[in-house]
Amino acid sequence: MRADAPILMFDSGVGGLTVLSATRALLPEASYIYVADSAALPYGDKSEDEIAARVCGLAGRLAERYHPRLICIACNTASTIALGMVREVLETPIVGTVPAIKPAAEATQTGGIGLLGTAATIRQPYVDRLEAEFAKGKTLLRHAAPELVLAAEQKLRGEQPDPAAIAAAVAGLRRQAGGERIDTVVLACTHFPLLTQELAKEFGPEVAFVDGAQGIARRIAYLTRGQAFTKPDSDLAIITGDASHDTALHRALQHYGIGRIAGL
Ligand code: DGL
Repeated sequence: MRADAPILMFDSGVGGLTVLSATRALLPEASYIYVADSAALPYGDKSEDEIAARVCGLAGRLAERYHPRLICIACNTASTIALGMVREVLETPIVGTVPAIKPAAEATQTGGIGLLGTAATIRQPYVDRLEAEFAKGKTLLRHAAPELVLAAEQKLRGEQPDPAAIAAAVAGLRRQAGGERIDTVVLACTHFPLLTQELAKEFGPEVAFVDGAQGIARRIAYLTRGQAFTKPDSDLAIITGDASHDTALHRALQHYGIGRIAGL
């Protein structure tokens, strides 16, 4: 393993930066490549076949080109659909991001858990399995909130996220039978922790949020323990769509320690 081999993280957009932050806090000595597949954003409204083909193809190209020591699929939609397939085709260790139902089930006092994700994530059998295994005896209500993906992309670029998008996502859970009992909300899309402040204001103080970022960071630190690391002055982002005029994105990436941007 070369000491400069990067940890590669990818998402459809900027959501995976929430996972990058948590991982960098634990592993500041590592070199990171952050990939935003913005040419295919959003993943959440696509079919399982489209997402699987896109994610497997992209992971293969990235592995070949950058020889990462580990790939993190920093996206719940891609992970709940394609994690197994990517692991089958690549020898690189792969860490996925799946809804944090287990910690939510441990944290809830009322037994009412909400889950916000993309439309593709909330219908996955993977989520059914997590619910059956970890949330037995609790009520898990799911709601697809694709509008929060756009709101998070806006907020990261320094724009005001649309308050109607936040209100609609919260109402989508609260209006379901048993929704008033929710005291813990799983942010099952890596974009959503960027909106924790706005969501907390709308849900009210009795609701706590959980996401997978800390757990993923610990897993990556564990899988790379004992490895040698060197890091460049500035990390690299690969943006699959045209980001040449997106100066707000460039500024935001700088904030996450990423000063170099390239296409694929
Ligand atoms: N950030 C992605 C996730 O964790 C999804 C955003 C999208 O729909 O592309 O699910």
